Amino acid sequence: MHLPNPLMLAAGILGISHSLFKRVAEAGAGAVVTKSIGLHPRQGYPNPTIVGVESGFINAMGLPNPGAKEFAKEINKSKDIKLPLIASIFGETPEEFSEVACIVEEAGAVAIELNVSCPHAEKVGAVIGQDPNLTSKVVKKVKSSVEIPIFVKLPPLVTDIREIAIISEKSGADALTVINTIRAMSIDIETGRPILSNKIGGLSGPAIKPIAVRCVFEVYEKVKIPVIGVGGITNWKDAIEFFMAGASAVQIGTAIAIKGLSVFQEIKEGLRSYLNKNDYKNYMELVGIAHRN
Ligand code: SIN
Repeated sequence: MHLPNPLMLAAGILGISHSLFKRVAEAGAGAVVTKSIGLHPRQGYPNPTIVGVESGFINAMGLPNPGAKEFAKEINKSKDIKLPLIASIFGETPEEFSEVACIVEEAGAVAIELNVSCPHAEKVGAVIGQDPNLTSKVVKKVKSSVEIPIFVKLPPLVTDIREIAIISEKSGADALTVINTIRAMSIDIETGRPILSNKIGGLSGPAIKPIAVRCVFEVYEKVKIPVIGVGGITNWKDAIEFFMAGASAVQIGTAIAIKGLSVFQEIKEGLRSYLNKNDYKNYMELVGIAHRN
């Protein structure tokens, strides 16, 4: 898969309609990952669904989406956007994943990101990604149902992320997205209640960056397929750290809420001057260099 540049829009941020895909493309992203889509329409949790905390956000949206068939129309309309469109999908069973995968492939998605790592939704998400057998069944089923590449988005809260990475690769994954958000909560000290309606959500942003870098570093050592880094990338230095840990592309999410869509351009320019200054021909020369002895 060829990306015009290694900066992708992360799942869950703006990736919900043709007009937003277009804005992200115009802002200079190298690929767009959609909000996670399931087979059936889903309301999500009531508000509040997001809260700002030190160095990031905690969100628990509850995977709201219009259902695969309805969302397919947005993907279909997006053929005018000259950017790879990757559909993030979720499901309760391997069969459900496979049905959604076929719908988004047919609509024109160029790859699929399996969200087996949402840290708070019942029956879907991390309950799958934390179970190597179940993850393997989902990956195998989707792999046998579609022809486009499959990324698996891994959960960070596991005993050993390398185990899930290896099993995903063996089951047919074409790339791994490392990591999803981390289970977290925030309490309002005036009311004594959790702020989010779901009480627990997923922490994103600079707070999780060192954890994500460690996960990318560990996974890169164990697999041959590309690793896509995500978690707290807010500036060009962060992106470089992920490349050095082993990521061959990165996803930007929370930084858009902090800096706006101009963050894509800002990171690209910072990266370009770093490469020039240090005599690198291409950012790919940075990938994995932190593993040198
Ligand atoms: C949500 O919709 O609540 C977030 C999804 C995710 O974290 O994967």
